[in-house]
Amino acid sequence: MFLHIVCLLSLAVALPSNVATSPKPGCESTCGNLQVPYPFGIGIGSNCSMSSDFDIYCNTTDNPPRAYLTRAASPFEVVKISETNIYVKNWRQQQIVACYASREYFSLEIDYFANSPYTLSDANQLTVFGCDDLAIGQHLSSDSNYSAYGAGTSCAPYCESREVSGGTGSCPGNGCCQTSISKGKKFMMTRLINMEQNWQRRKLFSCSFLSLGMLNITGFTFRLSDLNDSTFLNKYPALTDIPLVLDWRIGSQNCSEMLNSSSFACKGNSYCDDSLAGVQGYNCRCMKGYEGTPYLSPGCHDINECKNSPCHSNGICINTPGSFHCYCPNGYYGDGSKNGAGCIRMPGSNSKVAIGASLGAGMGFLLLLLTCFWLLKFLKKRKNKKQKEEFFKRNGGLLLQQQISKHEDILEKTRLFTAKDLDMATDHFNESRILGQGGQGTVYKGMLSDGKLVAVKKSKLVDENQVEQFINEVVILSEINQRNVVKLLGCCLETEVPLLVYEFISNGTLFYLIHDDSAEFPFLWNMRLKIAVEVAGALAYLHYATSVPIYHRDIKSSNILLDEKYVSKVSDFGTSRSIEVDKTHLTTLVKGTFGYLDPEYFQSSQFTEKSDVYSFGVVLVELLTGKRPISSDRTEEERSLATRFLLCMERNNLETILNSQVLEQGKREELTAVAKVAQRCLNLNGKNRPTMKEVAMELESIKMSQTLSTSVETTFEGVRLLNAELAMLPDADYTWTSISESTFTSSDVTPFMTKTF
Ligand SMILES: *[C@@H]1O[C@H](CO)[C@@H](O)[C@H](O)[C@H]1NC(C)=O
Ligand SMILES: *[C@@H]1O[C@H](CO)[C@@H](O)[C@H](O)[C@H]1NC(C)=O
Ligand SMILES: *[C@@H]1O[C@H](CO)[C@@H](O)[C@H](O)[C@H]1NC(C)=O
Ligand SMILES: *[C@@H]1O[C@H](CO)[C@@H](O)[C@H](O)[C@H]1NC(C)=O
Ligand SMILES: *[C@@H]1O[C@H](CO)[C@@H](O)[C@H](O)[C@H]1NC(C)=O
Ligand SMILES: *[C@@H]1O[C@H](CO)[C@@H](O)[C@H](O)[C@H]1NC(C)=O
Ligand SMILES: *[C@@H]1O[C@H](CO)[C@@H](O)[C@H](O)[C@H]1NC(C)=O
Repeated sequence: MFLHIVCLLSLAVALPSNVATSPKPGCESTCGNLQVPYPFGIGIGSNCSMSSDFDIYCNTTDNPPRAYLTRAASPFEVVKISETNIYVKNWRQQQIVACYASREYFSLEIDYFANSPYTLSDANQLTVFGCDDLAIGQHLSSDSNYSAYGAGTSCAPYCESREVSGGTGSCPGNGCCQTSISKGKKFMMTRLINMEQNWQRRKLFSCSFLSLGMLNITGFTFRLSDLNDSTFLNKYPALTDIPLVLDWRIGSQNCSEMLNSSSFACKGNSYCDDSLAGVQGYNCRCMKGYEGTPYLSPGCHDINECKNSPCHSNGICINTPGSFHCYCPNGYYGDGSKNGAGCIRMPGSNSKVAIGASLGAGMGFLLLLLTCFWLLKFLKKRKNKKQKEEFFKRNGGLLLQQQISKHEDILEKTRLFTAKDLDMATDHFNESRILGQGGQGTVYKGMLSDGKLVAVKKSKLVDENQVEQFINEVVILSEINQRNVVKLLGCCLETEVPLLVYEFISNGTLFYLIHDDSAEFPFLWNMRLKIAVEVAGALAYLHYATSVPIYHRDIKSSNILLDEKYVSKVSDFGTSRSIEVDKTHLTTLVKGTFGYLDPEYFQSSQFTEKSDVYSFGVVLVELLTGKRPISSDRTEEERSLATRFLLCMERNNLETILNSQVLEQGKREELTAVAKVAQRCLNLNGKNRPTMKEVAMELESIKMSQTLSTSVETTFEGVRLLNAELAMLPDADYTWTSISESTFTSSDVTPFMTKTF
């Protein structure tokens, strides 16, 4: 008996894998096995879709439930929805069974998608089985004129063997042909024509079969004699289970037409795509490195590429918006990438570490931070514990741990916080705990388990090139023990972005003290001067007394905090800014705060110590005048406080700009002297500005003369003031000023506030 030739090849259609898309919030995401992402929506008139064109009917009485495209004029079952395609099935509408007894041709019209956002995709083919037939697929030359046929496609299956038994047919080739169809058409007229007459020979088998849809026929074989039977297709089930692929689009206008429209459908991190010329409508697609549903606000979200360990096994991966970076840890060189240079251990890095460690506590502390850094890398890989351990060992982590345990005093100095500590301290980074938010990160108020209040700064993403610099800055900042600089208590490098933990300063910012009229007490001149002296001293310390000069780069009154005794604390310097991702020159420029920004730096983009001097000059003027650095209610030229101040100085009418209280309380020569310092700080040529050291000394000597002259007064009030002033003198914690060195030490125990006010 005849044995059916078994088709060994699977014809299963490989549909593209699911994309991470979602339905409109509050709407069903699936019907049976079908994922229904927005702009499609389940339900008719349920408002789940973008428009009725995208309504999907889900028949839940079916088991499993089946989805149908309601927009098509004939019910097509939906089997798959992708970024630009929808895969539908209606087998009756996709096939022609032509057993030529009487008719010359058989036809099939695909016209279900008129006035819909769907067009036929070129992923479909016309596949024809038969001997001596001609298959024609024709489109309309215009989508609306059904009597104007346009371009088309054709193929003619031919049978090599002329024997009646036929033998084995194969695809494409013997008894089978396949042709692609063109993209972008809503209509297709398909005909299967008997060629018996034209070819002047009898048709070998009476039936022929045509199917329309996505079918990979490569290597398919069948018995030619089955073509004698109208149930041919049913004998090969894979031939009847094929989807018709449709392209879908939004609307009837193209991207350039929609760009300004309020109904433009593409949301954040997506772009508009109308790559198919001549077809109305457009699609939205996520930008590279993003995924999600581009049609739903807020749009596509970043892909965390690091989840798939794209870097070299020694490398560290940092996810950035739209991309990721690989870099190598300390002691390694290379680009960190898997296919590039990888990470290669630097010769001798281990021995260096060992020697460094033996150098004692200071060095040990450095090492602690290096461990921090290694831990960062190490924690990135926590998914794979074994790899992590190997990694830690390979990088000398164990050695470093030993070193740290030998120097426990260092551990006390700067704490390594765990992510859990800080998460608890800030109540899971609760929004209600936010103290401030800026270009560099967000600052949260937190309470450690021991009840200590801290400010936790969550930086913006870290650029791999700057991690080392970040570590260095953390080291430097931890070294700083200056009364007027906010103290860094520790860091946490376990998290995706570094967290810095500072002491909590309770009394708000200088900006608030100067500009908030509702303050409970008057902001007296001697207090203003005291703060100016403190801040100048702190900056001079940063510029000159640290192992490496530290430029603050964003001096402004809102970065000067005041503690409960109104001692000023300079905060928010360099650290997180210098580790921000991919900052170009331009964006670095925009970074400073308008109104405080050194115009020379603005032009040359060269930040110098004198740029800090300029910004300090603006703060000084703020203290003198009580005015904001930028006033919005003035003309362009008058907007800048610095410019207006310089103008007043030039015209010798300082009193017109000074704060009235300041004018009342301050001695004339004192105010003039401070104003002159400010004027010199604001010199447009950085070279002509004094250094921070000079500024600090001058302000201090002005203040000293104030103190001395006050002490001459013999009133009771005067004596009280003198005591208060003594309490206000800065610590002798920088060594270049002979005055502070030789004269006074601070007595923090005297809370001057209670005496002065
Ligand atoms: C759909 O939205 C329209 C207008 O926004 C509203 O009138 C209608 O009730 C909504 N239908 C459903 C089922 O939510
Ligand atoms: C839903 O599916 C059931 C079971 O197959 C069928 O009887 C019913 O007619 C379908 N309903 C619609 C509206 O197509
Ligand atoms: C449709 O096409 C036919 C053939 O090209 C033409 O004669 C007819 O005028 C067209 N009709 C319309 C409405 O454009
Ligand atoms: C079709 O199937 C063959 C064999 O399974 C495979 O090699 C080929 O890549 C497939 N073609 C397409 C376009 O999927
Ligand atoms: C084709 O079908 C006819 C009628 O069903 C039958 O008589 C004939 O033998 C068949 N030919 C082959 C080759 O199977
Ligand atoms: C978009 O549509 C406008 C108006 O129909 C047309 O001028 C423009 O060429 C189209 N752009 C593209 C890219 O198809
Ligand atoms: C879109 O708006 C911009 C500026 O508002 C305008 O220059 C441009 O011509 C507009 N484009 C279109 C296609 O209307």
